Amino acid sequence: MITVKNIFKTYGKGEAAARALREVSFTISKGEMVSITGPSGCGKSTLLHILAGIESIDNGEIWIGDAPIHTWDDKKIAKLRLARMGFVFQSYHLIPVLSAWENTALPLIAAGIPANQAKARALEALKEVGLADKALHYPSVLSGGQNQRVAIARAIVGKPDIIWADEPTGALDTDTAEQIIGMLEMLNRHHGTTIVIVTHDPRIASRTTRAIRLQNGRVIHDGGVAL
Ligand SMILES: Nc1ncnc2c1ncn2[C@@H]1O[C@H](COP(=O)(O)OP(=O)(O)O)[C@@H](O)[C@H]1O
Ligand SMILES: [Mg+2]
Repeated sequence: MITVKNIFKTYGKGEAAARALREVSFTISKGEMVSITGPSGCGKSTLLHILAGIESIDNGEIWIGDAPIHTWDDKKIAKLRLARMGFVFQSYHLIPVLSAWENTALPLIAAGIPANQAKARALEALKEVGLADKALHYPSVLSGGQNQRVAIARAIVGKPDIIWADEPTGALDTDTAEQIIGMLEMLNRHHGTTIVIVTHDPRIASRTTRAIRLQNGRVIHDGGVAL
């Protein structure tokens, strides 16, 4: 369902050019839970941004299902993103002046869904991540783990078939990290959501069924997760 064919990505030009990805190819099937691993600076976030159509490529192809997004303009990709993708980041990216349900509802509001429907669906998503009783709370009064669960609720509120997570446990302690990974596993199992997790933490990678390991922008391993 996700196909990456021989992609290359360079930031900048001439002497200052930084080669972030080279000759990267793989496919991810529907319903897989995959990690992208490797040391800092190896190109993990760049690859995730390219898969989500946020960053362009120099060469190669990116297919999301039958959509060749490397040929699409930003507007068309933005629509696909809203309809089919959810995002989770290390730093939550919640809006401080919005409550948990308002943060959760944002992708629906952006997609033009009426406010009352958006609210009902946001409350449902919060329930799914175990935060039904925190709907009116603001990010500043929630713990890191709770804020990340709000971010997961926001990622799933549009019922995406793919979730991209960039170091989703990077700011959390070990126990809370386990809970967050458990929640992503639950979504993967119950809804068949395809989940791609960028992490430099081998323990987090070990919770996925397949690891794509990068080094200097190249894939050096793709398969079982060996600690
Ligand atoms: N916006 C950017 N402009 C210039 N170079 C960048 C940019 N983003 C990333 N890079 C460079 O690309 C390489 C890969 O970065 P990144 O994908 O963020 O790695 P990772 O997520 O694995 O830490 C690094 O050398 C980084 O400095
Ligand atoms: Mg990164």
